[in-house]
Amino acid sequence: MNSRRNFVKKTALAGAGVSLIPNLSFGALTSTNQQKLKLAIIGVGLRGTNHLNNVLLRKDVEVTAICDIDPKRIELALEKIKDAGSNKPKVFGNSDYDYRNLLELKDVDAVVISTPWLWHTRMAVDAMKAGKYTGLEVSAANTMEECWDLVNTHETTGSHLMLLENVNYRRDVMAVLNMVKQNVFGELVHFRCGYQHDLRFVKFNDGKSAYGKGVEFGEKGISESKWRTQHSLLRNADVYPTHGVGPMAAMCDVNRGNRFMSLTSHATKGIGLHNYIVDNGGKDHPNAKLKFKQGDVITTTIETANGETIIVTHDCNLPRPYSLGFRVQGANGLWEDDGKRMYIEGQSNPHHWDSADEWLKKYDHPLWQKYGELATGAGHGGMDFFVMNAFVESAKENIAPPMDAYDAAAWSAITPLSEASIENNGEPQDFPDFTRGTWVKRKPYNWIKDTY
Ligand SMILES: NC(=O)c1ccc[n+]([C@@H]2O[C@H](COP(=O)([O-])OP(=O)(O)OC[C@H]3O[C@@H](n4cnc5c(N)ncnc54)[C@H](O)[C@@H]3O)[C@@H](O)[C@H]2O)c1
Repeated sequence: MNSRRNFVKKTALAGAGVSLIPNLSFGALTSTNQQKLKLAIIGVGLRGTNHLNNVLLRKDVEVTAICDIDPKRIELALEKIKDAGSNKPKVFGNSDYDYRNLLELKDVDAVVISTPWLWHTRMAVDAMKAGKYTGLEVSAANTMEECWDLVNTHETTGSHLMLLENVNYRRDVMAVLNMVKQNVFGELVHFRCGYQHDLRFVKFNDGKSAYGKGVEFGEKGISESKWRTQHSLLRNADVYPTHGVGPMAAMCDVNRGNRFMSLTSHATKGIGLHNYIVDNGGKDHPNAKLKFKQGDVITTTIETANGETIIVTHDCNLPRPYSLGFRVQGANGLWEDDGKRMYIEGQSNPHHWDSADEWLKKYDHPLWQKYGELATGAGHGGMDFFVMNAFVESAKENIAPPMDAYDAAAWSAITPLSEASIENNGEPQDFPDFTRGTWVKRKPYNWIKDTY
């Protein structure tokens, strides 16, 4: 703990220096002192490798261990680490539970978990128990029990958990968050969001390349088709709610003066995945006989304690261009992501939309103004840089992250609750209060700053 405190002191000084340097390069972002955050990455598939690429550019992080059960992924990660001129990390992955040996290492301060969903909570709980600062990919949990496991483990161990929800850092989302915090929309009333992404070519492949070919999944597939598609086969639920609901929850301070109270969910029939298999593999392909449980469009309405509603859509099995479909609406006006438009009463032409561009430029978030240029290459239009930056900076100081165990639980709880509601003809389902009453006095996170 002592060395951690010294480390924090030193890096804080170095960090203060950084803000004076003009024309930051990616690596200059961070401290020049010798002590680095010792990071392990569990799961170096597509997402974990993206995180690896980003941390290899930082001077304040050393990757001391990696773990993956796929030797090909380990090989690729080691190559990248070598090419970056970094020390060879310790390698794990001999079995499904080899990550537990990684967690015993003393030279690991923090871990990033980018594995299939069913591993998330188990690995995060073990990591917190081992005293590691834990970063967890989305979604965090699959069942209500898992949601509670995250909260309970955080509380009993004191270890922090950060949900690595990158969409909270999207440039337009952050500009709108800035507008919300400056009260441009007035009192908040209604939100829309979702995950509307044609994933048919991700859910199926030929077992050789990740995207675009074949109709195999499970044991015969690779990458996400190996594990993700099974959830569509067996669950009629919004299985991926956090990209949409995370940014909205930040805007209306969920778990910090507000909370999710209840939801209702409805699902359409599911025809998209079956049609895709028939069109691309033929009607006699064995997978054409499967009945996918997941409805193609799942619509959930959440009510909050402060009287807002949030409509969350999961739409991943039909042909469509990508959109998270955001809408943020308050007493004075609204922003709509689809159509890229804004209306603010008294400032916009009455009953006419403004193009959102000017507004988003005017309210560009301080973080994007400062780091926008160097963030852009980091993946997903730059937001991956910011989420990793927030993780590393929070871990270095060992302080509560922007998106914590309570957020991970409340946002992920949409999956089991939507499933129960759909199963019961849209019956309302109550959210547990994961904060055990403390949402009333927890202070909103300070999103509007230019550090992380
Ligand atoms: N935030 C985002 O924008 C974003 C984007 C893509 C994926 N994701 C999330 O990241 C996670 C990983 O997705 P992905 O696309 O990288 O999938 P992937 O299948 O490419 O990678 C998962 C990796 O985990 C490894 N793995 C599986 N079980 C393991 C175990 N027991 N121990 C160690 N390694 C194990 C696999 O071998 C694989 O390499 C998922 O939760 C997904 O939802 C988030």
